Amino acid sequence: MAEEEGLPLLDVRHLSVSLQTREGVIRPVSDVSFTIGRGEAVALVGESGSGKTLTGLSLLGLFPPGATVPSGQILFEGQDLLALDATAFRRIRGQRISMIFQEPQSALNPVLTVGTQMRELFKSHVDLPDLRVREEVIDRLRSAGLPDPERVSRSYPHQLSGGMRQRVMIAMAIALDPRLVIADEPTTALDPTVALQILSLLSSIRETRTKGLLFISHDLAHVRRVSDRVLVMYAGRIVEASPARRFFGTGPLHPYSRALLSSRPEGAGGGRRDTPLPAIRGQVPPLWDLPPGCAFAPRCSQADDRCRTEAPPWQTEGESGALCFYPDLSPPGEPRHVA
Ligand SMILES: Nc1ncnc2c1ncn2[C@@H]1O[C@H](COP(=O)(O)OP(=O)(O)O)[C@@H](O)[C@H]1O
Ligand SMILES: [Mg+2]
Repeated sequence: MAEEEGLPLLDVRHLSVSLQTREGVIRPVSDVSFTIGRGEAVALVGESGSGKTLTGLSLLGLFPPGATVPSGQILFEGQDLLALDATAFRRIRGQRISMIFQEPQSALNPVLTVGTQMRELFKSHVDLPDLRVREEVIDRLRSAGLPDPERVSRSYPHQLSGGMRQRVMIAMAIALDPRLVIADEPTTALDPTVALQILSLLSSIRETRTKGLLFISHDLAHVRRVSDRVLVMYAGRIVEASPARRFFGTGPLHPYSRALLSSRPEGAGGGRRDTPLPAIRGQVPPLWDLPPGCAFAPRCSQADDRCRTEAPPWQTEGESGALCFYPDLSPPGEPRHVA
């Protein structure tokens, strides 16, 4: 396919996903818009239940049973994936967009060797002679940093450590040279040293093998290592989009992002076990009972009456934007809005 320069790799526009639950219809992905440029690593951050995984799965056309998509476009290399039929979407999934899951155990078949699973993956998408497929499998395992790829290929998943299994998942995700890789909390099940190795592997893969990475994480220390741009999600909405340099430098625009960042332990670098997002007072409101104004208002120290009653606008400054009446647009040390 001809490279369409100028178009982002991925352009998600006003995507909403609705689910029928016992409490009523919820919208765990609500009017979500973002882009991923060619060669860009974008992080999607937020507390548990904010809609990160559902957003990632949507890009693969994997919706929970009963889900509807009341609005939105997912333009991938200029083509709207939501307009494709199931067969065409399946062809794109795996081949052009792939996903690395939190728990490699659940994504790997326990009764097949790694090599068998990877060969099946190749054969279901591309027409290559057996010998070539074998070579490709070994090549991808080596690219995923597995030191003895021949042995790993002959192994069953349970014979490998957690870190090796996650590397196998990565090898499978890059098997068909996809343009976009979605990594959903890929280090949660790993100990800190291995987690850091996996993060640097993801970074290097993005540089050498794929064109874009969506890195889903609740760990800002990890996000800082991997991402060029940061998206913050809260109760189904993107509440901030900022270049990582700005987010971790001058600071983010949205009070929620600032709360996340400032309650991180001082000097926390990598090396820790995946830490849940630090506690911010209060709780994420349930999706079936969102407040009328800004969903973060009940927890926000800066919220006023307007925040509690009206939907906040998307406000931008430079390359950053936030869904807030009072984003922090001022230079550091001069808060514009004092509660
Ligand atoms: N299959 C489903 N049925 C009903 N609700 C779901 C389903 N999957 C996710 N949800 C709800 O959607 C919201 C977002 O979930 P998810 O995308 O998994 O969040 P995150 O990955 O940020 O933790 C949560 O409130 C969750 O309970
Ligand atoms: Mg999740």
